[in-house]
Amino acid sequence: MNMPDEKVLRQLNDSLNLEALWMPFTANRQFKAAPRLLVAAKDMHYLTHDGRKVLDGIAGLWAVNAGHCRQKIVDAIKKQAETIDYATGFQLHHPAAFQAAEKLVSITPKGLDHVFFANSGSEAVDTALKIALAYHRVRGQGTRRLLIGRERGYHGVGFGGISVGGMSGNRKTFGNMLASVDHLRHTHDPARNAFSRGQPEHGAEFADELERLVQLHDASNIAAVIVEPVAGSTGVLIPPKGYLQKLRQICDKYGILLIFDEVITGFGRTGKAFAAQTFGVTPDMITCAKALTNAAVPMGGVIVKKEIYDTFMDKGGPDNNIEFFHGYTYSGHPLASAAACAALDLFKEERLFERVTELAPYWEDAAHSLKGLPYVSDIRTIGLVAGIELQPMVDKPGARAFEAFLRAYSKNVLIRTTGDTIALSPPFIIEKNQIDQIFDTVRDILKTLP
Ligand SMILES: Cc1ncc(COP(=O)(O)O)c(C=O)c1O
Repeated sequence: MNMPDEKVLRQLNDSLNLEALWMPFTANRQFKAAPRLLVAAKDMHYLTHDGRKVLDGIAGLWAVNAGHCRQKIVDAIKKQAETIDYATGFQLHHPAAFQAAEKLVSITPKGLDHVFFANSGSEAVDTALKIALAYHRVRGQGTRRLLIGRERGYHGVGFGGISVGGMSGNRKTFGNMLASVDHLRHTHDPARNAFSRGQPEHGAEFADELERLVQLHDASNIAAVIVEPVAGSTGVLIPPKGYLQKLRQICDKYGILLIFDEVITGFGRTGKAFAAQTFGVTPDMITCAKALTNAAVPMGGVIVKKEIYDTFMDKGGPDNNIEFFHGYTYSGHPLASAAACAALDLFKEERLFERVTELAPYWEDAAHSLKGLPYVSDIRTIGLVAGIELQPMVDKPGARAFEAFLRAYSKNVLIRTTGDTIALSPPFIIEKNQIDQIFDTVRDILKTLP
């Protein structure tokens, strides 16, 4: 690790003023009263501002799948920064964006072979929703404006993403947002599925809700359905067996596009490059971000079926027409593209997605060994993901799990909590003794939680 020594750390701590920064998704006042700063990282570990090495049990934020500060990625970014710092993708471009796109579509499900680059998961989601609307319009079905999401879905923070998302916090704060949306019910069913390993047995029929929404709105008005194959931010919800297949069938029946938001499941998390491949269901579009560059430079993307891309090209009018009126200043940014190329190469060279499949049984056993500990009401696992759901404190939702997070951090293990679920998703280079360290720490903490 590129470690700052004690003196440098002391100077940093003394000189740092925390006031000006408004932190994202953070209890700012609480944080600033007792800050937690990460000052360096390498492979499986962070170094904290108080000089501790903390094991990263969440790959940064479902993102650093190959581990931190991997030399090949660092070198690729450095080299690119010296070669070409920026080039617009509007009517010009630079080679690395094309190279990144080609490498990316070499690992996507068959038929999804074109990519539109954005800079984050949120932008990827909004881009995908706009592609859906524009696609139906260019092929003469412009009445298809309705976008269907799912309760407990998280699709980032853009207005499109929060509209199709199903987080009550967003609805409470921001109101109704996009008018043309509806939602499927979520698939969480602990009464029938608690402590499932992999995909739960019960709940394929939740997909029939889509039939109901089609009857309500009429298929001629519906553009797309967007779901996370595995919902992460609302507590690691794994799709029941047959559920995604059913969604696919109903979408096909009515000409509705199916979008998988794979911002957290993309790039090996469930053992295959994409969860679409793990679950054997091919959507019409996939949104991705995070591990696309191993999180070293922000980048997102929407991968679309050939038929969608071809429709835009075929119906695009005169050659000088812009076929899709959309793009970001930083779409396919040179540094992000270089990082993506290096990350995608690294995943392949080190067979990291296969490693997830190899480690998954050990991971699953370790996670499920927490069954029976105080407050544990459910454990859900797939690939290198685990959700450990705790009973909430009376009148204080989320407080028990957050206390677990604070205690784990003080014991040198980084975990994440969403609501009252502990969500774990380590880098794929994790070793078995490090898996033990994560779950032993969580075990010790659960025994003493208030
Ligand atoms: C499924 C999903 N979609 C979209 C996003 C938003 O990504 P970003 O934070 O890069 O905008 C996230 C972030 O965690 C996510 O989990």
